[in-house]
Amino acid sequence: MLRLHAPMATPFRFLSVPRRAFSAAVKFEGRVSMVQGASRGIGLEFVKQLLENDDKGHVIATCRNPNGSNGLVNLKDKFAERLRISQLDVTIESSIEATARDIKETYGHLNLLINASGILSIPEVLHPETTLSKVEKSSLMLAYEVNAVGPILVIKHMWPLLKVGGGFGTERSVAVVASLSARVGSIGDNRLGGWHSYRSSKASLNQLTKTISVEFARKKDPIACILLHPGTVDTDLSKPFQRNVAQEKLFTKEFSAQKLLSIINNVKSHDNGKFFAWDGQEIPCFGGVWHQSPMKARARPRAL
Ligand SMILES: NC(=O)c1ccc[n+]([C@@H]2O[C@H](COP(=O)([O-])OP(=O)(O)OC[C@H]3O[C@@H](n4cnc5c(N)ncnc54)[C@H](OP(=O)(O)O)[C@@H]3O)[C@@H](O)[C@H]2O)c1
Repeated sequence: MLRLHAPMATPFRFLSVPRRAFSAAVKFEGRVSMVQGASRGIGLEFVKQLLENDDKGHVIATCRNPNGSNGLVNLKDKFAERLRISQLDVTIESSIEATARDIKETYGHLNLLINASGILSIPEVLHPETTLSKVEKSSLMLAYEVNAVGPILVIKHMWPLLKVGGGFGTERSVAVVASLSARVGSIGDNRLGGWHSYRSSKASLNQLTKTISVEFARKKDPIACILLHPGTVDTDLSKPFQRNVAQEKLFTKEFSAQKLLSIINNVKSHDNGKFFAWDGQEIPCFGGVWHQSPMKARARPRAL
C-alpha cells in the first residue's frame, strides 16, 4: 500500500557518515550517483545494486522520510561509508535545493541522477480513473506535481553538479539523468485510454525531459537525459493492479533494476532525449501508430 508521509516538522536532514569524513579536499575515486525516490520499490533496489556493483561508488539516496525506510536503514548499516541518505520531497523545492547544496559540499559533483519517485494511486486521495466522468482536478494536479514537476525540479537543481568521469567505475562518456516514466505516458502508445492523471503526468514528464535534452545537447559537458519504462514490476505501486497481469510479465524489482542499470551504463550522447523500455527497446514519446483495434485493446489486461 502506498504510504503518504507528511513532511516532518523538524526536517530530518542527513543520515550519513560524519561530515568531517568528507572534507572538501577528499577526492572521490568512484562514481557518485543519486537516486531520488529511494525509500522502497525500484528506487531502493537501484541504491542496493549501485552499491553492490561498484565497490568504490558512492550513492546519495533521497526520500521523504528516511527514518521510515527500513530498506535504506539496513543498507546504511552495510554500506556506512558509501551511502548518504538525504530527506527530499519532490513537492518541496527547498528540500531539493538543500540536497543539491549538500552534494556540492560533500562530493563536488554527480555522475548519475536517477529519478525513481512516482504515484499512481493513494487510498482516499488518488484513484486511477476509468472514465472521464471520474476525472477530478485534485487528482490531475497531484499526479502532475509529483510525477512531472517534481522530477524536473530535481534535475534543475542537480544539473550544475553533473559531470562525466569520477574515476574508477565510470566508463560512460556522458553524465546521465534517468527518470522513471511509464509506457502509458507515451501518447503514441496510448491504446487503452483511462488512468488520465497518471498517464498525462507521465506524458508531461516525457515532454519536459525531451525539452531539457535539447538544452543539454547545446552544453559543453555532455549530459544524456533519458526516460525509462521499468516494465510491470511487483511493488506497492502496481499491487492493486496485478490481477490481470500474467505471471511472466510481472517482474521482480531486482530484475527490472538490473535491466535498467544496464541501459544506463551503456548510454551514449546520441541517446539524449530517448525513452527506453526495460529491454532496451525505444518507446515513442509522442508519435507512433495504433497497433491494435480498440475492440482488441479492450480485452487486453492493463500494463503499467
Ligand atoms: N511498478 C511498476 O509496475 C511501474 C510501472 C511503470 C512505471 N513505474 C514507475 O517507476 C517508478 C517507481 O515505482 P515503484 O513501483 O518503485 O513505486 P513504489 O514502490 O510505490 O515507490 C514509489 C516511490 O516514490 C516515492 N514518492 C512518492 N511521492 C513522493 C514525493 N512527493 N517526494 C519524493 N518521493 C516520493 C515514494 O516514497 P514514500 O515511501 O515516501 O511514499 C517511493 O519511494 C515510478 O515513477 C513509477 O511511476 C512503475
